[in-house]
Amino acid sequence: MKRERLLLAVPPLLGWYRISKRDLPWRKDRTPYSVLVSELMLQQTRVEAVKERYVRFLTRFPTAEALAAATEEEVLKEWEGLGYYSRARNLHRAAKIIVREGFPQTWVGVRALPGVGDYTAGAISSLALGVYAPAVDGNVLRILTRLLADPAKIDENRTKRDFSALLTEVCPPEAGEFTEALMELGALVCVPNGPPACGACPWSALCLAHLEGREEDFPVRGEKRPRRVEEHDVYIMTCGGKYALVRREEGLLKGLYGFPFLTAPPAGRELAARRAKHIFTHVEWHMTGHLVEVEGEDPAYLWATAEEIEGKYPLPSAFSAFRIWIKGA
Ligand code: ADE
Repeated sequence: MKRERLLLAVPPLLGWYRISKRDLPWRKDRTPYSVLVSELMLQQTRVEAVKERYVRFLTRFPTAEALAAATEEEVLKEWEGLGYYSRARNLHRAAKIIVREGFPQTWVGVRALPGVGDYTAGAISSLALGVYAPAVDGNVLRILTRLLADPAKIDENRTKRDFSALLTEVCPPEAGEFTEALMELGALVCVPNGPPACGACPWSALCLAHLEGREEDFPVRGEKRPRRVEEHDVYIMTCGGKYALVRREEGLLKGLYGFPFLTAPPAGRELAARRAKHIFTHVEWHMTGHLVEVEGEDPAYLWATAEEIEGKYPLPSAFSAFRIWIKGA
């Protein structure tokens, strides 16, 4: 039943995609490397935010060789502001592997690259190699559960597995187009927030949720786990026009510079304080930032000028609320 409906849905989807697809920078002049870059950049990040940064990244690092030859610091700096910095480090490591071993030619090989999970491996395999593998994320689950009026809970692994199997069965020879058409329908028509544009949908005559007037009943979600909240006191210590930074050696934002989290205030004069919040996928940082003028440069920290913070040390956006205290940055 499901398979039959999905089989019927493939031709109108491809026809719609060919005339409606967005003109996105990573859809031109594709190479396996450029697909890897775009798919890692698009993880957890909106298409609009990626467009310009993708072009800039490929201008700076046009090939896997160029990326592999860069330092991690240079790569992280280029990634600044995009968030989820482990992606940048993984991309850098993947480039080194590709230079050494060539671009992998199978889904299994692609999946083994650092930073590549099932979804990204499916996308890269379909788009770069022409070898179909399902790329099932929340968007694809939304359009499919609506098409089939399927009450499966989309946050359960089994649901993803079942839809992956189904897509593999119905995939047409145009692997790359099929994969991107599914993404495109979820982005342009069967949108995540707000009502779907069923009038513009190539599936309107096939979609069970639409035919039953129950678009809003799908997808069905299970219980959501709340994010862990962490309270931190963040110290922006300043001395003679320099600011104390630490390189974060583990956990969130590993490898990036930030202001130290301290459990006791440093000796000095507190000039200002402000609260700020930063939301990661599973954790929220509730921070109290303290601007403190200190007497000398404690060697436990890296002391940087405003210009150095701007140009040399990638400061993640988690700390952007405190940038107002960095004179000239
Ligand atoms: N999201 C992830 N990969 C994408 C792609 N290739 N095109 C549009 N959105 C995407």
